[in-house]
Amino acid sequence: MSDPARVPSSPDSEPVLACSDLEIDYAGRTGRVRALDGATLTVRPGEVMALVGESGSGKSTLALAAGRLLDSSAKYSGGSLTVCGTPVLECEPRALRALRRNLLGFVFQNPISALDPTMRVGRQLELADVDHSDTPPVETLAEVGLQDDLDRVWRSYPHQLSGGMAQRVAIAMVLRRQPKLIVADEPTSALDASRRGQILDLLVSSCRSRGCALLLLTHDIQSVVGRCSHIAVMYGGRVVETGLVSETLDDPLHPYTRALVGALPGDEPPGVRLEAIPGGPPVLDGPCPGCAFAPRCVEALAKCTTTRPALRNGRRSVCCHLYPNSGDAASSLRSAGEGMAESQSRSHNPHPSASLPSAVSCTASTDGPAQGRGA
Ligand SMILES: Nc1ncnc2c1ncn2[C@@H]1O[C@H](COP(=O)(O)OP(=O)(O)OP(=O)(O)O)[C@@H](O)[C@H]1O
Ligand code: SF4
Ligand SMILES: [Mg+2]
Repeated sequence: MSDPARVPSSPDSEPVLACSDLEIDYAGRTGRVRALDGATLTVRPGEVMALVGESGSGKSTLALAAGRLLDSSAKYSGGSLTVCGTPVLECEPRALRALRRNLLGFVFQNPISALDPTMRVGRQLELADVDHSDTPPVETLAEVGLQDDLDRVWRSYPHQLSGGMAQRVAIAMVLRRQPKLIVADEPTSALDASRRGQILDLLVSSCRSRGCALLLLTHDIQSVVGRCSHIAVMYGGRVVETGLVSETLDDPLHPYTRALVGALPGDEPPGVRLEAIPGGPPVLDGPCPGCAFAPRCVEALAKCTTTRPALRNGRRSVCCHLYPNSGDAASSLRSAGEGMAESQSRSHNPHPSASLPSAVSCTASTDGPAQGRGA
């Protein structure tokens, strides 16, 4: 596979996805849930970006918002969101349809449910071909690895395919439309372990060969290594850190990213317990007054529960009070040697929340099941 850090875009090219301070609430019978609490994320042409974070951190909400595909209980409360320069939240239905048809592609967890159960695969592929591409649809099926079963797959209904085959068909349908951005929401979590790597490789290589950007939502941080160029880490409805995969995982800046990386299985000998993140993720009922990670953060400062950390942009972007001054969070970290030494010495506190006041409108249980491996 080609070098994942090779990104064919320049930082100045117009983003295929840009959301800034995006706020989305769900209105439920039991009250409001704030799913996005000021999420900021930029994906540039050709980037292969992983979006990781624990369950409920807002990954799917952000991804579906890109196509304005959220259900009617979702309310856009603030911020902006553009896809290839088109303001998604404000555009007219006609422009929205064009955006979904021409610019965006979605690959979901359950491929069978993403396909029309009443129509043969071949016909669905023909209908997906909005621009009547020169390449016959059957060639796209071969390209996604179904060359040995072309006839059978072409004539099949979705339920006659295995999960892996159906996901390849779903990817082929998305590729036919030549989108600028493919959003894949846990595309392999419903598949056998033996198929997961193959499908991820297929997605990534198909995007790279077409110059199409990919936003890959996943809980499996290790699966993005060697595949994705960039990684964005979400927590409590915000993107708390972004950067190149190699730099971010080798030298995580945000305490939550550090905790996630520390919870990954590595070279530890049998019997050695992995470092778990105490407590559980928050369920917000409104804007968090401080940092949503504060109740679980081993490096929290006094102001973390009362003052929202700003997102510091730069080659590495990070949203944390430990990096207050610089646009480049990594250099800020290195110049703040004293503060870092202090925070590192506190990182061994096994019960960080014991010394912290709890956040006002964000709750994170500290006696819930430990969050073990990855996000
Ligand atoms: N339709 C909905 N109605 C009410 N609340 C919702 C709805 N969809 C999501 N939520 C809530 O919004 C928050 C963010 O959910 P979201 O599905 O975006 O997270 P996620 O990071 O994709 O989680 P997972 O990894 O489990 O897929 C969660 O607290 C979730 O319970
Ligand atoms: S140090 Fe403060 S702002 Fe940074 S992650 Fe911990 S609680 Fe949040
Ligand atoms: Mg999700």
